[in-house]
Amino acid sequence: MIRSHIKGIGSYVPPKVVTNDDLAKIMTTNHEWIHARTGIEERRFAEEGVFCSDLGLIAARNALKDAHLTENDVDFIIFATLSPDHHFPGSACYLQAKMGIPGVACLDVRNQCSGFLYSLSVADAFVKAGMYKNILVVGAEVHSSALDFTDRGRDVAVLFGDGAGAVVVSASPSPERGIIYSELHADGRHARALYLDIWDISKKPYITEEDAKTRQIWPQMDGKTVFKHAVTRVEEVILHTLEEARVSPEDIKFVIPHQANMRINQFVAAKLKWPEEKFLHNIERYGNTTAASIPLLLDETYREGKIEPGDLLLLFAFGAGFTWGTTLLRW
Ligand code: UT7
Repeated sequence: MIRSHIKGIGSYVPPKVVTNDDLAKIMTTNHEWIHARTGIEERRFAEEGVFCSDLGLIAARNALKDAHLTENDVDFIIFATLSPDHHFPGSACYLQAKMGIPGVACLDVRNQCSGFLYSLSVADAFVKAGMYKNILVVGAEVHSSALDFTDRGRDVAVLFGDGAGAVVVSASPSPERGIIYSELHADGRHARALYLDIWDISKKPYITEEDAKTRQIWPQMDGKTVFKHAVTRVEEVILHTLEEARVSPEDIKFVIPHQANMRINQFVAAKLKWPEEKFLHNIERYGNTTAASIPLLLDETYREGKIEPGDLLLLFAFGAGFTWGTTLLRW
């Protein structure tokens, strides 16, 4: 049986650090409020002129280096983002051009905080089917351009940061190692709990000069609803994943959660009665980087030497849509 595995991994964050105190200078907020409710201490913001395909390019190069491959070995690019370079074409096409590999297939995945796990499962299926050999999966975000840094938008603006992570997915040399199980879910009834509707194609014309003043051009979130659904759906999907894959909690070395809010992940750990230390985090340094958060955390953990070959890892995500899911993999 062919399994796919992560052959190489890399990440990148822009150098500009923005602390909670920095945000408190431009809106009515404070470090205590942000830290107590989310665990975030600082985040990175890209400079003007930087696209998510630029951040993704550096992460992709790092992942290829780690895999001992070159650009020319990539035969498919999957790019997960909610902050694409432009509305169309997809950021995978821009990234492919920057990598200098015309002709290679490109796919954008628009599944917000679950985008990386959705992309990973697509890559897994293509590798298992024998259709592609080395699939580059990138999660990258430039959130900082599309946040409302006035008091009106402070509930959302303090949560997000910019960054990128990438993996190369290829056939595993061992049937014991690689992606063991994936589970994906969505519930579009809650689409308006977290959304940005500047692009409304039902309007003719879809955008007018007046819209920038009157329509909501910034992300909108019902934070309590997102929180409530996240903790419930994530607990369910983790338990179902363990049951389907026939593994017990003790078998899992680390849980690599999407970094939306430290409290969500602590709440899930408490509900499952799992040790909180098993749930890794770096939200304190990067905030919520949406599609980039899981590969960014996985890459950091790997570089710190904490992951050994054969370790069982459980990845999970929940976000706008709502969309959520898990990936269970043996490193
Ligand atoms: O990947 C998915 C992404 N999103 C999430 O996972 C979000 C999930 N939800 C959450 O993490 C929490 O709902 C938040 C951290 C966003 C908010 O925490 P909360 O405990 O639900 O706060 P709240 O929205 O009920 O607001 C409490 C108070 C309000 O003031 P009043 O009405 O009590 O006077 C807000 O206006 O805090 C105020 N507030 C702020 N104060 C200081 C809202 N944003 C801020 C802020 N700084 N940035």
